[in-house]
Amino acid sequence: MPRERSGAFAPGRVNLIGEHTDYNRGLALPFAIGEGVTVRARAREPGPSGAERIFAHARDLDETDEFDLEQPPPARGWRAFVRGTVAELARAGYPLRGARVEIAGDVPLGGGLSSSAALEVALCLALIQLGADAGGGGAALDRREIAQLCARVEHRWVGARTGLLDQLASLFGRLDAASLIDFATLRIEHVPMCLGSWRLAVVDSGERHEHASSPYNQRRAECQRASELLGVASLREAEASQLERLPQPLRARARHVLSESERVLEAAAALRAGDMIALGALLNRSHASLRDCYEVSTPAVEQAVRALLEAGAAGARVIGGGFGGHVLGLFAPAVALPEGAREVRPGAGAHLLGA
Ligand code: GLA
Repeated sequence: MPRERSGAFAPGRVNLIGEHTDYNRGLALPFAIGEGVTVRARAREPGPSGAERIFAHARDLDETDEFDLEQPPPARGWRAFVRGTVAELARAGYPLRGARVEIAGDVPLGGGLSSSAALEVALCLALIQLGADAGGGGAALDRREIAQLCARVEHRWVGARTGLLDQLASLFGRLDAASLIDFATLRIEHVPMCLGSWRLAVVDSGERHEHASSPYNQRRAECQRASELLGVASLREAEASQLERLPQPLRARARHVLSESERVLEAAAALRAGDMIALGALLNRSHASLRDCYEVSTPAVEQAVRALLEAGAAGARVIGGGFGGHVLGLFAPAVALPEGAREVRPGAGAHLLGA
């Protein structure tokens, strides 16, 4: 008996540390947050022509889309993610059915908290379950394969050459833990986030970024070029002592990538030791490197980071791709969160919902 309904929730993420390391086969330490995207799907009979169709409703925008399951045409905005996810699922051989899909979320769009990965992942889980025979849906999913499929949606349908950080963080999130991800092996180790009474909070810089139109893809190309010049497959294989051979700005980009992976390991050690002062200092060093070497900060981001530090944060930094979006701050127990800051806590990873 095929199932008639399915549902899934996928969280957004905050990357504690480890920025622009994923597509360089480095390390990162993200955690899933409580906010995310919920997708509910209901099977739909084929139309008079026999074509299986998807009807999608983005509740928060009150916008709709409708397209054939087979070879959906390209689109822009949220529709590109929905059509792309459906197309990539079909291409990967997942059995799909025509469906009416309801999308709702509470993670700000385009704000660096991975609203797009949450949408892709929730859609994947819900549509795979709907297409699977009752009883078997979702059980044997390879979550790393789903993350790679979602990255293909970003590359082919959105034009953003992103890595796997956001999708893996959403798929492998765990309550009260961060995910230490090694992008060379895709091995994931959960590091308990025992913050005591310390808090992490995000604040919106007010600036929105668009990966495709931003210099994100350019940064990725620069890292590729740096690897080629050094004769290594990725910057993960490069040695710090080799970087002098690179011209600027490639040298600075590579320096950020190598030092950022080291900071990830130091941050994981600080978390394990409950050393929040050390963690705060690492957030500050990460931000300085992202600003000065990787050049992904903006005046609005700088102002937001400064405001958090002036409010007493022990550390603050831009998160995600940069060029706007949210900034993260770490606050000691006695320090009040400044106005506009929202506390973020590590929440559960993507999961199916009872229909
Ligand atoms: C965006 C991308 C990720 C990652 C970060 C930077 O969030 O989607 O793949 O590259 O930027 O760390």
